[in-house]
Amino acid sequence: MEELRAKLPAWVEASRALANEGQVASYIPELAKAPREALGITIMGRDGSTVSAGETELRFTMQSISKVFTLLLALIDNGEKGVFAKVGMEPTGDDFNSMLKLELVEPGKPFNPLINAGAIAISSLIRGSSPADKVARILSFFGEAAGVQAGGSLSVNGEVYRSESATAHRNRSLAYFLKDNEVLGEEIDVEDVLSVYFQHCSVEITCGQLARMALVLALGGADPVSGRQLIPRRYVRIAKAFMLMCGMYNASGEFAIQVGIPAKSGVSGGILALVPGRYGIGVIGPALGPKGNSTAGVHLLETISASLDWSIF
Ligand code: DON
Repeated sequence: MEELRAKLPAWVEASRALANEGQVASYIPELAKAPREALGITIMGRDGSTVSAGETELRFTMQSISKVFTLLLALIDNGEKGVFAKVGMEPTGDDFNSMLKLELVEPGKPFNPLINAGAIAISSLIRGSSPADKVARILSFFGEAAGVQAGGSLSVNGEVYRSESATAHRNRSLAYFLKDNEVLGEEIDVEDVLSVYFQHCSVEITCGQLARMALVLALGGADPVSGRQLIPRRYVRIAKAFMLMCGMYNASGEFAIQVGIPAKSGVSGGILALVPGRYGIGVIGPALGPKGNSTAGVHLLETISASLDWSIF
């Protein structure tokens, strides 16, 4: 931690320049308001101590990062058999919102739970009597991992949620395609599922909270403070395998080679990453490269991993 504390501010300033090579996502209009040059990182050690640098006070929406934790909740709610009846276990190599492979192999069945089609199918598996009830369960599950104090809770950014819902033609078409192929069953209302999906993507978070969520995964599902097992170890192992294979979308192979740790990005510019058994990491850098990952954030993680030999390989 001491070496990190000493070097992190300079690493952040060096990586910040990479924001110039990216663009803030604008297909969800509300996301276009994010500060393009921002870069922040919090790293949490296994005892819960943190090192931070850059704009870690920024609040941003989880977007696709949330898919890791809805997958975990769906596994808790349905078991492996229930989840893998609806989604596969393979990376696609395609864009996160692609339709291409949905028709190619098992018709309608998304290749994995981290592409949009797979995450929408996963949203349909979250238990609850109504979309509001499901979102409440998601917020409480995310909040527990994020270490949000009892009484407080994470919340959905209503502007981002409404902005996505009003413009999500592609996600809507994916969801109706899933319905047509009975991945979303007869009893399931497509708009209800989409509402849950857009809301979990719009959960507002900070780098520190992301780092703590990541640390829970780094510790195999255990709470870093109480030691309590929040998530079964086996499910955390599944989530980390997906993060490595497809957490950075079709840049996951390059990320595995250059950084070498499980990670998940979101179009808000957030990245959740972890060094197994050691660190949970939360990054924000809103400018994205062509594959939808934070340019400055990825560069920063490459720098730290190379300097501190973080790769798991
Ligand atoms: O469904 C969407 O398009 C967004 N709510 C989430 C996409 C996302 O974060 C992909 N990430 N890189």
